[in-house]
Amino acid sequence: MEKLSALQKERLKYKPKLPLILTNRFSSIKPKFGAATESIADSDKLKKIFKNIYGKPVVAFAKGKNPKLNSKPIKAGVVLSGGQAAGGHNVIAGIFDALKKANPKNKLIGFLGGPSGIIDGKMKEITADLMDKFRNTGGFDLIQSGRTKIETPEQFEKSKHALLDNKIDALVVVGGDDSNTNAALLAEYFAEENAPVQVIGVPKTIDGDLKNDMIETSFGFDTATKIYAELVGNICRDVNSAQKYWHFIRLMGRSASHITLEVAFQCQPNIALIGEEVLAKKMTLSQVVDSIVEIVLERADKGKNFGVALVPEGLIEFIPEIKELIKNLNEVLATHEEKIKAFEMVREKKNYVYNVLEPRLAELMKSIPENIESQLILDRDPHGNVMVSQIETEKLLVEMVEKKLRDMKKEGAFKGKFSAITHFFGYEGRCGFPTNFDTNYCYALGYNAVLLILNGFTGYMSSVRNLIKKPSQWTAGGAPLTMMMNMERRKGEDKPVIQKALVDLSGKPFRVFTQNRAKWAKDDDYLFPGPIQYFGPEEIVDSTTCTLMYEKSKK
Ligand code: FBP
Repeated sequence: MEKLSALQKERLKYKPKLPLILTNRFSSIKPKFGAATESIADSDKLKKIFKNIYGKPVVAFAKGKNPKLNSKPIKAGVVLSGGQAAGGHNVIAGIFDALKKANPKNKLIGFLGGPSGIIDGKMKEITADLMDKFRNTGGFDLIQSGRTKIETPEQFEKSKHALLDNKIDALVVVGGDDSNTNAALLAEYFAEENAPVQVIGVPKTIDGDLKNDMIETSFGFDTATKIYAELVGNICRDVNSAQKYWHFIRLMGRSASHITLEVAFQCQPNIALIGEEVLAKKMTLSQVVDSIVEIVLERADKGKNFGVALVPEGLIEFIPEIKELIKNLNEVLATHEEKIKAFEMVREKKNYVYNVLEPRLAELMKSIPENIESQLILDRDPHGNVMVSQIETEKLLVEMVEKKLRDMKKEGAFKGKFSAITHFFGYEGRCGFPTNFDTNYCYALGYNAVLLILNGFTGYMSSVRNLIKKPSQWTAGGAPLTMMMNMERRKGEDKPVIQKALVDLSGKPFRVFTQNRAKWAKDDDYLFPGPIQYFGPEEIVDSTTCTLMYEKSKK
């Protein structure tokens, strides 16, 4: 027998809690239909793209006889797409258990390594023995994940064949906004081709940016933010003990700043930058730096030469001038590739780039610390683009704050000390043991996805709501994917996409943050959330995020 940690052994025994409605016999659960739905915007264009699946009604499961339920044996497929998020294995466990409950002859096939597993027909059957080893565990290692998109007509065709050849009746796509957009396109393609394969999506991403009226949160956000909050809380305590360092911590979240905002609620650090606010105020890089310097000075005046600052991973792209610089750099690096490559010295490469960039952007580039500037020119992805998510924004800010304070010191305007340490917390949060919340939520999402399949739905996302209540009070149903969509410009083309939910600057969570941040900046109001707990009082082990609590609270 494989060696397991003591906690692994205990967690394998945990029985996820289901919404009460889903504990009924499936033949006693009936779909109740709402009105036809519309997309968020661009309905005319979307109706043309999604001729078959556009505008279906929202579905809520309720108690009642359901003679139409499919009781014939079925084979379902599941694929995990994109970045890891805690709870993925429980989505699969929920699907597996619901399939077996509906008919012990039902089968579940896992596609390996993400959507490329469908295209290439790489799969394995999820058996009871295999499933039992992965219940309530973090990670995606049961079937792995990948970022391939099913995009070209050949890939669609190949996917159809892989599913039909393996007699798969339904596919569950577990992913973020892009992967679920892909799920909608697949559902439409199969319907158009008369291929009898249903497609159901499940909302996954630690970033928390796949949410809307029908999806209260994506899974993984709860666990990731609790893991980061534990680490940040520990740093806050260290900071308060030693009282000699400023810690700048970049937190994952490719675009939206939900993770940073949630960790700010849980730890009350001195500074938390919110990218969406920086964009709304059209702040320049130097204004962002000034806003930090102001707090460092305020604290230094009181003899506090220490603090904690949170920096969202996506910040850099929310600063309009940096976004413009990156866009221009991408063009310059592509059109002048050979010439730039030919220079041996990095300095020469930089000088060349300064000359071809617009003078205003060249000046901005020169104001960026050298190592980050080199990163912008030298580190590029396979498409030749600047690797924005790899930019060490926390170091960039520290260096610029240091420079500003040095200059102020010379003028006698700063008398304190500024000694900074930087961190990046990202991958640490994606595969931890899922919290009880994610354990239950994921299981319910998977279980509910099967109910949608057995009721014949396609092009829907599994929707489990009322999440600030106990799991027994959660509601279950389905939301048409097209109601979450609009058209956006991607790589020079108009594309249908599920709209990403950025931090809502008029929403309650951000309001609560702005009401408190000035106090958190000057005082040491740190909170220490500690590690995720699995045993103990309900309010500790089953609680979910502050973000969700504020979003769902009335005022
Ligand atoms: P998903 O949206 O696919 O869930 O991924 C989110 C994320 O964890 C981001 O927070 C991060 O920027 C990115 O993935 C990292 O990607 P990779 O795993 O490819 O390095």
